[in-house]
Amino acid sequence: MIRWAVPRAHRADTKRTGLSLRWLGALAVTALVALVATVVIAAGGAGSAYSQLMYFPILLAAWLFTAPGAVIVALVGGLTLGPLMPLNTATGELQTAAQWLSRMAFFAVFGALAGQASRMFNRRLMAVESKADRLSEMYTRVLSSLALTVEVRDEPTKGHCERVAHNSLLLGTELGFSESQLELLYWSALLHDLGKIAVPERILLKPGTLTAEEYSQIKRHPGYGAELLESISPDFAPLAEAVRAHHERWDGAGYPLGLSGDRIPLLSRIIAIVDVFEALTSARPYRGPIPAEQAMAYLSEGAGSQFDPQLVPLFEQLYQAGKLRLAGVPAAPAVSLSDVSLSDDRALTERDRALYPVKAN
Ligand SMILES: [Fe+2]
Ligand SMILES: [Fe+2]
Repeated sequence: MIRWAVPRAHRADTKRTGLSLRWLGALAVTALVALVATVVIAAGGAGSAYSQLMYFPILLAAWLFTAPGAVIVALVGGLTLGPLMPLNTATGELQTAAQWLSRMAFFAVFGALAGQASRMFNRRLMAVESKADRLSEMYTRVLSSLALTVEVRDEPTKGHCERVAHNSLLLGTELGFSESQLELLYWSALLHDLGKIAVPERILLKPGTLTAEEYSQIKRHPGYGAELLESISPDFAPLAEAVRAHHERWDGAGYPLGLSGDRIPLLSRIIAIVDVFEALTSARPYRGPIPAEQAMAYLSEGAGSQFDPQLVPLFEQLYQAGKLRLAGVPAAPAVSLSDVSLSDDRALTERDRALYPVKAN
């Protein structure tokens, strides 16, 4: 699977712990050689068919340490089943030098061949991994460029997508997401408004009231963004799915598809919460920022109608713990949420209504 790395600034530091895999491998090989020797003695001596089990630790050594390691284990294994090991423990009959030396030679040749095959396989694997890494890096650059394009295009919301991505990661971490899920969440959140690059600038930056046609144009941005991502690569389909649904509502009154409840992708439900919080607490050309406390209260009110009721309390915990990344000091004077009350058509900003539609009462 192609992965898109999350920039280091957003990642938690990971520390290396525990024994190195090579040392663990060496221990396993040694234990296996000792086990085979014990089995061979218990089975009646070096003449037993169980002496062939020594090929297993040699094979393991070939896989872990290639030819040199495998040959060393083959020699050790050959000696272990060598002069000191009777041919038959019951009669005390000893092996001839030719018997144990020829067995050891077989082990050594097998170890050398298996080690060489392992080396070739590893080289092939590294070449494939290197290509995958390059592709992954290219994807990361493409996605970063797209994110930058959105920000350049929509200057007044500068930092919005980055903060939405960061805070979404926090919520995803709280939900116990795996690293690959977090990467998907990060990029979906960063690019959630990608489709705005297809919305005419005169609409996007218009400070006044929008016409019905202009609203409908803005509402197309989730679909535009998803289509753009899908057109770049089928690998971006999961991102596109999350981007397409970021303005859906829990009660089904959102857009573009009117999905409801669990049918809205989880990533989109996360982004929806973080996006609205970030949008409300940020200054816009057509209004000032809303205090975070009030924005949080708005989310709580919308839990179960606009937002996933199970996610909102988790987001609130992050807010209360002071973990969220918030917009900087606003340029415009702060306004109260009551000034943009959803029941107050006069004061409710047209942009808020366009982006975060509310069911008509
Ligand atoms: Fe959006
Ligand atoms: Fe947004």
